[in-house]
Amino acid sequence: EGLHSLMVAAGKLYFGTAMETNNFDDAAYQAIATNKNEFGMFTPENSQKWEVTEPTQNDFSFTQADSIAERVLSNGQLFRCHTLTWHSQLPPFVANGTWTPETLTAVLTAHITTVMQHYAGQCYAWDVVNEALNEDGSLRSSPFLTTLGEAYIPLSFTIAAQADPSTKLYYNDFNLETTPPKTAAALSLVRAVQSAGAPIHGVGFQAHLNVGQTPSRADLAAILTSFTALGVEVAYTELDIAHVAPALPADEAGNAQQAEDYAAVVGSCLDVEACVGVTVWQFTDRYSWVPSTFPGKGEACLWTEGYEKKVAYERVVGLLREA
Ligand code: G3I
Repeated sequence: EGLHSLMVAAGKLYFGTAMETNNFDDAAYQAIATNKNEFGMFTPENSQKWEVTEPTQNDFSFTQADSIAERVLSNGQLFRCHTLTWHSQLPPFVANGTWTPETLTAVLTAHITTVMQHYAGQCYAWDVVNEALNEDGSLRSSPFLTTLGEAYIPLSFTIAAQADPSTKLYYNDFNLETTPPKTAAALSLVRAVQSAGAPIHGVGFQAHLNVGQTPSRADLAAILTSFTALGVEVAYTELDIAHVAPALPADEAGNAQQAEDYAAVVGSCLDVEACVGVTVWQFTDRYSWVPSTFPGKGEACLWTEGYEKKVAYERVVGLLREA
């Protein structure tokens, strides 16, 4: 038994993780990743982003993400696809281009359609629009917002639905767990997509959280429920819970708190019927994005750098066993 098999026994679809091609040659990593009791869903951490899949206009490259898809699908695991319309990791031709609404619509349509058709039938879900909101709830600046206005959001979902009608279309963002104006704006965003007549099936809660600053299970469940009330499913899509300096390296009390925080997040998914699963953004500190992006934060994952299970792992497994 493990994270995924226990999640499934608790009535959920999956427990998943981000993975990248640089993790392929690490035997200790792969021993855990290929264990279907532990992980049933994989998200490519970087290799489906626009700068990788279409680095120059109409020049598509799928080798990197294909190798992840083939590996997990041939092992009977699922694939969660990430991401299409995002302000970050854009190739220079998009980031620095001079656009009219017509030319940018054509570029966005070509990108979403080509990438989604390439992976048609392989993705449980796609993060169609990623991180469109600022912390105060306003729309984040991007070439898409500048040129197309807020209509780029329903437009992206409409294009996506035509490209692969078999996958779930998600809006995905961070701090929806902790930042009320952003949470409210995300609810409005879902309603706006629905009012525009575009399909949206899910909302992804990235859940990049901090130890000791994670909301309670009940508060998290209430937030998830405010979204499922709109008729969408929800999932935790990029979960990690970082210790914050000076609490590094983490001590026993810190690790106990991290365990409670992980249990709150996973528990809240159990409490909400339309929460389909939990994905961690790497399962070992060895490959976590956190310390390089946020110096002074770290040890955010369920396994240590040396592949020892943390108390947070044991706590989540214990919680799932009782579910
Ligand atoms: O590919 C280049 C490589 O050629 C170069 O030598 C190297 C030197 O720094 O950089 C490599 O690019 C890095 C890229 O990851 C691929 O490894 C970038 O510097 C690095 O900034 C980038 O970080 C990724 C980040 O997204 C970029 O925004 C992280 O790995 C990835 O975990 C992170 O994931 C995001 C989600 O997609 C969306 N939500 C937030 C989450 C965390 O930031």
